[in-house]
Amino acid sequence: MKNHNFSAGPGILPQEVLQEAAQACIDFGGSGLSILEVSHRGKNIIAVFDEAVALVKKLLNLNDDFEVVFLQGGASLQFSMVPANFLGNGAAYLNTGVWAAKAIKEAKYYGKTEVVASSEDRNFAYIPKDYNIPSDADYFHFTSNNTIYGTQMMEFPESPVPLVCDMSSDIFSHSLDASKFSLIYAGAQKNMGPAGTTLVIIRKDFLEKQQRALPSMLNYKIHVDGESMFNTPPVFAVYVAMLTLRWLDKNGGIEWAEKRNKVKSELFYKELDRNSKFKGTVDIADRSQMNANFVMADGADEDLFKTMLKDAGISGLNGHRSVGGFRASMYNAMGLDSVQALVDVMKAFEQKQG
Ligand SMILES: Cc1ncc(COP(=O)(O)O)c(C=O)c1O
Repeated sequence: MKNHNFSAGPGILPQEVLQEAAQACIDFGGSGLSILEVSHRGKNIIAVFDEAVALVKKLLNLNDDFEVVFLQGGASLQFSMVPANFLGNGAAYLNTGVWAAKAIKEAKYYGKTEVVASSEDRNFAYIPKDYNIPSDADYFHFTSNNTIYGTQMMEFPESPVPLVCDMSSDIFSHSLDASKFSLIYAGAQKNMGPAGTTLVIIRKDFLEKQQRALPSMLNYKIHVDGESMFNTPPVFAVYVAMLTLRWLDKNGGIEWAEKRNKVKSELFYKELDRNSKFKGTVDIADRSQMNANFVMADGADEDLFKTMLKDAGISGLNGHRSVGGFRASMYNAMGLDSVQALVDVMKAFEQKQG
């Protein structure tokens, strides 16, 4: 039996995507070759990259003002590439957790980095609301979904400077006006595909602001000019991302995912708030639809709960090692049946504990 996969990332992918990807490892499109053993310069692989780019643009409603590339080095390399390319006078950052803090740390290597607000005072259990973005900053960087803590920004600040966003753990999960952003990046391994590639979307006019002399692999312009193939790209990761985007598009795109994600997260949070054996860990207004964090109520038997989860075929529920507790990640590919299975275990656990 396939497990209900609540892993925070690498996370759940659609079954049909996994099947098609498995087949491509043996024989890619009837070519008699595995997708793992062919040149990225072949027509059929270039077609995969072209389709992936076209799907990103279609799903996010992006026009030709934007470039789309698939890079390597994870979202973590973007923490460095963004300031390497765009931090001149100084940049503004919002600190909403570990990933945001890592981005801030890397930015400091390149110049003045102002943290406009932070939620560290309450262990990142909320999203700061009142802050000013300096109008002379080169850009304002924030993390839309804080995977480790389970907080999410569904609405974005009005900014006098270019917006740069780490959307690694909620891209394609709800509708937004992507054209408001100058740069969006997202590691593939949550809502989009396997680890190994990072989607980067850049406004062309922002790209023009890149002035610093940089090593080629750190330079966005070089990757854009090379159409994601400046060096050997992670073909399989991009292929699986393309299949996942195709799957999303076929099902109704982001509007479809948004409705499904809302229903799933409402089902889960309703039970969390009702159940006397569990407690949420973040402010209700800032709860994430992608990652729901919770802990046991005082005296509840954690080991019993873990055994019951295992018996029900539920996996990946442990909280991040830095915060502990539990975290239910409910990415796009997760069906309502998996959330229902978790809710059923939570109910059964409460009954058993009396
Ligand atoms: C929001 C966010 N940003 C960045 C990262 C780091 O991504 P990577 O491991 O691809 O470098 C993660 C990983 O979980 C994440 O959740």
